[in-house]
Amino acid sequence: MSHPMIELRRLHRFFGTTRAVNDVSFEVQRGEVFGFIGPNGAGKTTSMRILATLELPTYGDAFVDGFSCINDPDRVRRRLGFMPDYFGTYTDVNCYEYLDFFARSYGLAGRQRHQALQHTMGFTKLDELAHKPIRGLSKGMKQRLCLGRAMIHDPAVLILDEPANGLDPRARIELREMIRELAANGKSVLVSSHILTELAEMCDRVGIIERGQLLAVGTVEEIQHEQQPHREVKVRVLGGAEGARAWLVGRSDVNDVTLVGEELKFSHQGDRDSEVVLLREMILAGFRVAEFASHSQSLEDVFMAVTKGIVQ
Ligand SMILES: Nc1ncnc2c1ncn2[C@@H]1O[C@H](COP(=O)(O)OP(=O)(O)O)[C@@H](O)[C@H]1O
Ligand SMILES: [Mg+2]
Repeated sequence: MSHPMIELRRLHRFFGTTRAVNDVSFEVQRGEVFGFIGPNGAGKTTSMRILATLELPTYGDAFVDGFSCINDPDRVRRRLGFMPDYFGTYTDVNCYEYLDFFARSYGLAGRQRHQALQHTMGFTKLDELAHKPIRGLSKGMKQRLCLGRAMIHDPAVLILDEPANGLDPRARIELREMIRELAANGKSVLVSSHILTELAEMCDRVGIIERGQLLAVGTVEEIQHEQQPHREVKVRVLGGAEGARAWLVGRSDVNDVTLVGEELKFSHQGDRDSEVVLLREMILAGFRVAEFASHSQSLEDVFMAVTKGIVQ
């Protein structure tokens, strides 16, 4: 088993009495996109800045490709690209000059630098904007340029702080596709947002953080199931709905049964597999089931349930 590409190990960062990061641990594997989700002030940026070696932890450590952010910051920097949540003031240069400057800062020269620039501008679809001054770029173009800057030295790990913030839906979809492609190419990506739905589709796993503490980690489905182990089911039975109601009430995995006309509504304790078993049992019991539909909590409900909306 190979080592994780990103690891936070009992990370703490206090500012005076503010516990910005308060004992956070998680790992991100090679080729994995991990979503770091939490309300404003939760400690996302502070954790990411520690990974980017811009800040030191009060206690604990963070590792990139096995190297400590405290003891080996140079090796960490070579393996990591950081996209901060603000854009510096480089208004008078064009996109090419901007990326070229950062390529040189990473020590890239000659053919290698030329290739890095070609690849990055192609990947972020900036080729046509190469000679456009930065001050004339839209928010979405600036974000692509920022991503380009973070990936110019071909790092194995990318740390993206709220990259979707302020983007229109189209730019957001493009960003999602770029992040998925980076992961498909073996990069490990840590991406933050204060909106769960914004990241749910692009992340393999997410961690929900609030007030410096990680409240839940896993796939969105796992977290959803933990928060709400029951699902709402709607069944339409042709004839004999009253009998079906009595049959459901008698089951220990079913609660809150209501019957309106032919339609029965209830909450079922269990996952989607046990739901299939329930449906089969209903049919075997002789009920003429014409419709069977279920749904779990929305992602926003899950997020609201996990965090209590407390901002420090
Ligand atoms: N340099 C700093 N000095 C003092 N407090 C800070 C500093 N940086 C962050 N904080 C505080 O730490 C907490 C976490 O902030 P931050 O990591 O930026 O959260 P997020 O990125 O999740 O919105 C906030 O309460 C913030 O005010
Ligand atoms: Mg932040």
